[in-house]
Amino acid sequence: MFIVLEGIDGSGKSSILPAAREFYERRGRAVTVARDPGSTALSGRIRELLLTPADTPIAPTAETLLYCAARAQMLAEIILPALARNETVICDRFYWSTLAYQGEAGGGAALDALVVAAAGGLRPDLTILFDLPASVAMTRLSGALDRIERRGVDYLERVRRRYLQIIGELPAPQKIILNAAAPREIVHAELLARLGSES
Ligand SMILES: Nc1ncnc2c1ncn2[C@@H]1O[C@H](COP(=O)(O)OP(=O)(O)OP(=O)(O)O)[C@@H](O)[C@H]1O
Ligand SMILES: [Mg+2]
Repeated sequence: MFIVLEGIDGSGKSSILPAAREFYERRGRAVTVARDPGSTALSGRIRELLLTPADTPIAPTAETLLYCAARAQMLAEIILPALARNETVICDRFYWSTLAYQGEAGGGAALDALVVAAAGGLRPDLTILFDLPASVAMTRLSGALDRIERRGVDYLERVRRRYLQIIGELPAPQKIILNAAAPREIVHAELLARLGSES
């Protein structure tokens, strides 16, 4: 089982990950968690390149390909071995992020098929989308904004719409769309209820 968490910055993905992990562990599953980009030495270095503001200019196509490279390494080192051990994998972001964010930044369209192919044909079994208005998400971001977050609230709102379109097209058993604007306890309860009704 390969599960991914998606949604704009500040939507609550990372906050809920421990609860999702616990849900599967209580059912006797071994769980591996990962975050994209990251989780390996190479992917972490690419993450820094991508997220550090004013590091060096990154053209839209290069940005898309760097996300793909980080993901390919994470798949090879972490996700595919875990799935081969029959573990449940929960990944904080996956290629839907690239389709939504880089698609909106002009690094998509011609590259969309490549973004998917770079994942070696692996498709998430379940995608959980944390949906909320970008204006609300922005109020949750603390500290210095990263290179992508600096694109601002209008960009993030367009990314949100792309997410709704992309994830919305998935077959019902492959998606859970949560109202992430709700208080944390409500989002948690809703997620656990939806996971429980599917397992
Ligand atoms: N339902 C909620 N209501 C209010 N605040 C929340 C809620 N869920 C999470 N938060 C807070 O919002 C902030 C962002 O949450 P979190 O880091 O989980 O988002 P994220 O989706 O992982 O963002 P990023 O993509 O930037 O990593 C955190 O400070 C978190 O405590
Ligand atoms: Mg996070």
